[in-house]
Amino acid sequence: MPFAHITGWGMSVPETILTNDDLSKMVDTNDEWIRDRTGIRERHIVHDEDQTTASLAVEASLKALQVANLRPTDIDLIICSTSTPEHIFPATACLVQDRIGATKAGAFDLLAACSGFIYAINMAAQSIRSRSIQNALVIGSETLSRFVNWQDRNTCILFGDGAGAFVLQASEMPGGVLSAVMHSDGSGGDLLILQGGGSKYPATEATLQAGKHFIEMDGKEVFRFATRVMAQATREVLDDSGIGLDELNWIIPHQANIRIIEAAARGLKLPLERFIVNLERYGNTSTASIPIATVEALEDGRLQPGHKIVFVGFGAGLTWGALAAEWTGPLPSERKVYPRRYRLWARIRSFLRRVVRFVEGVIWGRGS
Ligand code: UT7
Repeated sequence: MPFAHITGWGMSVPETILTNDDLSKMVDTNDEWIRDRTGIRERHIVHDEDQTTASLAVEASLKALQVANLRPTDIDLIICSTSTPEHIFPATACLVQDRIGATKAGAFDLLAACSGFIYAINMAAQSIRSRSIQNALVIGSETLSRFVNWQDRNTCILFGDGAGAFVLQASEMPGGVLSAVMHSDGSGGDLLILQGGGSKYPATEATLQAGKHFIEMDGKEVFRFATRVMAQATREVLDDSGIGLDELNWIIPHQANIRIIEAAARGLKLPLERFIVNLERYGNTSTASIPIATVEALEDGRLQPGHKIVFVGFGAGLTWGALAAEWTGPLPSERKVYPRRYRLWARIRSFLRRVVRFVEGVIWGRGS
């Protein structure tokens, strides 16, 4: 059975930064409260219509392909984990597939909120392990700022925008994704919810007036749930993978609140230094937070090939989960590829396919 290795990674965040001081001019809050209660100092926010969940995902994906040294056409499967998709359908993964020119890939979105990236890597890894595919692109991308009520200080201080992407590849060499656990408890679905825009509350004047198109959260309850499950899921996945806590190099947790990560550290009796934390600069980017933290740890040299790591997260649903892996890095390859060069070709191809569809429509008749 082949192993599923993480061989490429990339991240993308919008340039615009929103600081706690900026927020204090919008709602009744202040820098000290936000830093004390969450650990967040600033977050990145999309600033024009062209910056979307798909555009951030495309940037992160091209970087990940570059690191893995794979062409977009080498990818068999794209999974985009997101709670803020470009549209309800088509899937954001399909938009990415078209824009990067991944012409041989299947593509779908996965929604497990902030735990989604863990679920998505596990799905891709299982497809590789079962020999159904060779290479997968797994993306976590969010533009939460588009769904935040900027007058609600309970939520608007927390969230940021961004994307992270991993390439997973099959190899007979042992390592890579070792095990994963996934959990849910839908009885807590109302604790963190975006009610409007789905089939229950399609957009109407009334849903707009009622604020149903904004994120709503019971922060205290989510906090209690998170502190309970983080250490628990970490222990569970370590038991499954046979890795001891003392062998573990890094825990890369969902970046929601420093107090939640501190509680997990206490629960596991590990120093906070064993956790990769960057939420002070990005806020909570939901499903993108784990890959963004991972990319930063790789770029500053903390995370190295051979390291044993655990990703652990929780979120709306309620969902939670953890995944244990041995870090690999790019697989050896003779050729050098430039994934960005495929973008122009992808655009031409996409345009031509639309033209062909139009011409076919004219020839065969659109209405018949
Ligand atoms: O990916 C999953 C996403 N969600 C989460 O991870 C959320 C988990 N929950 C949390 O992180 C925390 O519950 C929050 C950061 C949301 C809130 O922190 P808290 O320590 O639970 O605060 P609280 O809701 O108990 O509020 C304490 C006080 C209240 O005032 P009173 O009633 O004690 O006078 C709030 O009205 O702080 C007040 N408050 C604020 N003050 C200044 C609440 N939000 C703010 C604010 N600025 N932004």
